Amino acid sequence: MITSNDILIAAKLLNFPKIRPSISKKMQKLPQISILPLLFPFIFDKKPPFRHLFSFLFLISFCLSHPRLRRPFPFLLLQDAVVLALSLFKAIPSLCYLACPSRPFSLQKHPLLCDFSQPNIPKPDKIPIFAPKTKSLMRLGIIGAGGIARKMAYALASKPQGCECYAVASRSLDKAVAFAKENGIAKAYGSYEELVSDPAVDLVYVATPHSHHFAHASLAISHGKPCLVEKAFAANAREAEQLLALAKESGVFVTEAIWTRYMPMSHKIKEVMESGVIGEPRVLTATLCYIIEHKERIIRPELCGGALLDLGVYALNFARMYFGNDVLRTVSNVHLSDTGVDLHECISLSYRDGKMANLQAGALCQNDRQGIISGTKGYIRIDNINCPELIEVYQDNCKIATYEKPAEMINGYEYEVFECERCLAAGLMESPLMPHAETLSVMRQMDQLRKEWGVTFPMD
Ligand SMILES: NC(=O)c1ccc[n+]([C@@H]2O[C@H](COP(=O)([O-])OP(=O)(O)OC[C@H]3O[C@@H](n4cnc5c(N)ncnc54)[C@H](OP(=O)(O)O)[C@@H]3O)[C@@H](O)[C@H]2O)c1
Repeated sequence: MITSNDILIAAKLLNFPKIRPSISKKMQKLPQISILPLLFPFIFDKKPPFRHLFSFLFLISFCLSHPRLRRPFPFLLLQDAVVLALSLFKAIPSLCYLACPSRPFSLQKHPLLCDFSQPNIPKPDKIPIFAPKTKSLMRLGIIGAGGIARKMAYALASKPQGCECYAVASRSLDKAVAFAKENGIAKAYGSYEELVSDPAVDLVYVATPHSHHFAHASLAISHGKPCLVEKAFAANAREAEQLLALAKESGVFVTEAIWTRYMPMSHKIKEVMESGVIGEPRVLTATLCYIIEHKERIIRPELCGGALLDLGVYALNFARMYFGNDVLRTVSNVHLSDTGVDLHECISLSYRDGKMANLQAGALCQNDRQGIISGTKGYIRIDNINCPELIEVYQDNCKIATYEKPAEMINGYEYEVFECERCLAAGLMESPLMPHAETLSVMRQMDQLRKEWGVTFPMD
């Protein structure tokens, strides 16, 4: 189906405002090219790169069918030469893309293939980077030499923005030494106590299972160490409250390492949504599934396992970031494991202002990890909600803009550390990007869901 938007887009692809009127004049005068409109379905009904390729072929055929242009090429009128050159310029990325099976570059990066001419669409260069205010080195100490610790060590390996992974602590000294060697970390400790007692550590990153966040973050805070605590912040809201109270009493900074909250792309999504380009946002969907049912920390209730605290927490945060927290009603469905933890869940939230969010998270299958924010004029597609790397904006089912992750992004874990450094330099006790009240509210929401599903942890 050719929509009016398709015709507009095609007009933009042919994008020669001064020339277009003369083209239509020529078309009226030249009956022999009246057959050309028959090509329109081939032009309009295709998605890039075919759309651009067909528009290029259309222009070529138009030029060649023009009697004046049957003259040798050097005598082309300047106007038509410009038409040809511009259409060629538009077609180059499409031709290269089609010619090269390995798809070596992103077609969307071609500036002519994104329609940023619409006044409301934020430009990609406005993606905010939360650069820290201090220039001195900030030394991170990691508690728990596991999977996520390795990713954080990689993020800070080049000491971006003056943030260095300085120390690691494990319950086993051998493991700590091996981890430090593998990741170029200066200090290795065989106990968590030793790490939090090191005066050179500026920030402690708690990278242990959910069941141990409370104990390990309390240990760091009681040694006066600012803390970045992996998600989910604690086992339940009660523990979260106690931990935040301890941080407040001790005058120590603490924040939840829910990395999506600190990513520049997450803020771009909000900017695009609030620009009005998709009209009034009304419905949001988000899914996040991985096959991780074999992991100990997922399957065991004593480690606060389950998909909710591990993956559902991202979907809930995604909904909160864009639709807020004024939830009127929550309906959910769950699949439980033999060990009594949730392995897959569907959560539907109705908001007081009429919005709706449909979320899905699970440890049983792979999926596209997509987020979609739908409005009255279009929608925003986010790939993926666990680390937004690509944002696409659609109006009337036609893609009008694309945003890609910042070129300088390492693996995304660096942004939460940059934010800690910024907050510490500013003397803040919490990050405005993930306020304590929000952390608590998410924990309460998850407690409520677990209660409905009958999923309990020993510390409840
Ligand atoms: N942001 C993200 O994208 C992301 C991704 C994955 C996980 N996470 C979060 O990161 C945290 C850790 O996840 P992970 O995948 O790194 O976990 P993991 O590899 O299974 O374990 C992390 C480490 O915790 C330590 N630990 C302390 N007490 C433990 C106990 N009783 N049982 C098992 N391990 C214990 C161990 O370190 P030592 O043996 O060295 O002491 C272990 O290597 C979780 O909160 C998780 O939700 C975040």
